[in-house]
Amino acid sequence: MLKKFVDPLPILKTIRPTSHIQNVPFYEVTMQETFQKLHRDLPPTKVWGYNGQYPGPTFHVQRHQPIHVLWKNALPERHFLPIDTTVHGAKKNNPEVRTVVHLHGGVTPDTSDGYPEAWFTRNFRKVGPHFTHRLYTYPNHQPATNLWYHDHAMGITRLNIYAGLAGMYIIHDREETRLNLPCGPFDIPLIIQDRSFHEDGRLFYPSVQDKTAAAPRPSVVPEFLGDTILVNGKVWPYVNLEPRRYRFRILNGSNSRFYRLTLSNGAPFIQIGTDQGLLESPIRVPSLILAPAERADVIVDFSTCFGESIVLQNEYERKGEKPNPETTGSVMQFRVVNSLTCRDESSIPVHLAPVPKLTQYQQKRTLRLNMRKDSYGRNIHLLDDRLWSEPVSAIPKLGQTEIWTLINETQEIHPIHLHLVRFQILDRQPFDRDVFEEEGRIVSTGPRVPPALNERGWKDTVRANPGEVTRIIIPFGPYPGLFVWHCHILEHEDYEMMRPYMVTR
Ligand code: C2O
Ligand code: CU
Ligand code: CU
Repeated sequence: MLKKFVDPLPILKTIRPTSHIQNVPFYEVTMQETFQKLHRDLPPTKVWGYNGQYPGPTFHVQRHQPIHVLWKNALPERHFLPIDTTVHGAKKNNPEVRTVVHLHGGVTPDTSDGYPEAWFTRNFRKVGPHFTHRLYTYPNHQPATNLWYHDHAMGITRLNIYAGLAGMYIIHDREETRLNLPCGPFDIPLIIQDRSFHEDGRLFYPSVQDKTAAAPRPSVVPEFLGDTILVNGKVWPYVNLEPRRYRFRILNGSNSRFYRLTLSNGAPFIQIGTDQGLLESPIRVPSLILAPAERADVIVDFSTCFGESIVLQNEYERKGEKPNPETTGSVMQFRVVNSLTCRDESSIPVHLAPVPKLTQYQQKRTLRLNMRKDSYGRNIHLLDDRLWSEPVSAIPKLGQTEIWTLINETQEIHPIHLHLVRFQILDRQPFDRDVFEEEGRIVSTGPRVPPALNERGWKDTVRANPGEVTRIIIPFGPYPGLFVWHCHILEHEDYEMMRPYMVTR
C-alpha cells in the first residue's frame, strides 16, 4: 500500500499565451505522452497531459477577454488503455486515439465547444464527422468561476481523461477581485481524482466488467473506482500552510467517484461558490458533496490551527458503507506549520454576488434517465430513452427558458451536465416507480425538496437522485447550435448516457 502524505501537493502552473492575434491572447497546447512521478514510491507513470503535464496547466482569464486556443494532438497512435470497440464512436475502423477538448461550464459557441464527434488525431491527420476548425475561441463573457477543460472524444472520453487529459480554467472578474478573498499563494485549485496502479507504476483501468463469457473484451465497465486518491496529480499529498484563511477551488475530476469532503478537525468549509460562480452569500457547511465534474469554491480558516495537521477526508457512503480512512477515505493533508509571512487581510464578505432566482419559463420538457440491456446483457444507461445516434429530440429556442424535469428511474445518482448553459435547481421529489413503470404517470410519494443551501447558485451539473424527479430551470443561449447533455459519470457518458441537443433561432 502506498504511504499517505509523503509528497508535497503540486501547485499547478499557469499557462501563458504564446502570442496575440489582434490583441486576443493566443495559446498553444499540445497533448503529449509523458512519464510522471505520481507518488514517492511509484516508478514514473505513463500519462497523457496537456503540454505534457498531468493535470494540464491552469488557464487564468479575465471576464470579457476572449482567448484563442490551438489544441494539438501529439499523442501516440495507439491507446494504452483498454478500448471497447462495441461502444458507439469507438468502432474498429476508427482511429484509436482521437481527442477533442471541451471547456466544461464554458459559455462557448458550438464550433469551439468540443462536440464529441469533432475529434481529431495526431497532427489533425484524421478528423471526426463534426469537425469544423482547428482554432478554438473562448469568449469568456461569463462571471468569475472555476471551469475545467477535459477531453470529450466519442466513446473514449473515460479513457482519455483517465490517462490525464484534464485541467483547470479560472475566470476572474472585477466584482470578484473587489471582494478581497484570499488570493495569490493563499488561493489553491485542487483537482481530486482516483486512480489505481499496477506494481510497476502503470495506470490500471479494468478491461472487463464481469467474467461473463459473452461480453466483449475489453469491455466498458459500469463505473470505475480507483483505490488511491490524487490531488493535482499526486497520490495523497500534503501541503504546508500558514495559520490564515485559504481559498480552495475544488474540482471532482474523477471518472465515477463521488466525495463527501470533511476536515478531520471538525472545522466547516465556508462555501462561496458553485460550478458557475459565486453564491449570494457564504455558507458554512460541515461537509461537501461533489459528484464527478462538480466544483465547490471554499474558504477554510486555519488561523487558529498553528501546529496542526488536518486531513481532508472523504466520507461519501456507498451502499451504506463509508470509505476506509486508510485509503479512499483520505484525500490529502493540510499542515499548518509555516509562520505567517504577512497579516491575513482577506475577508469573507456577507454579500458575494447577486443570484437572481429564475421563475419565468416558456417551455417544459420531461426527460427520463433509464436503463436497458445490450445484446451482451450489459446495462446501457439512456437519456430520454434514446441512444446517442437517434435524431436530436431536445430543440430549445434561443433566448427561451425551459424547465427540465429529469425522472431518474435507475438505482444510481446521475450527475447531469448540459453544455453551453448555466441553470438553477428548482427541487427534487420522490415518485412511485411502480406506477410510473406501469402507467407512465408520475405520482409523487413525498414533498418537493428545495436544493441544499450550497446548491442555490448557478450550476452546470446536477445530481439526479434515484427514484426522484429533479427539476432544473435553464435559460438557453446566448449562442444557437448543436451541443450535448450527459451524465458525467464517464463510464455512463461513454456508454450512451449522452444526447445531442440543439438551440435554434
Ligand atoms: Cu465535463 Cu460534456 O463535459
Ligand atoms: Cu461541459
Ligand atoms: Cu450516470
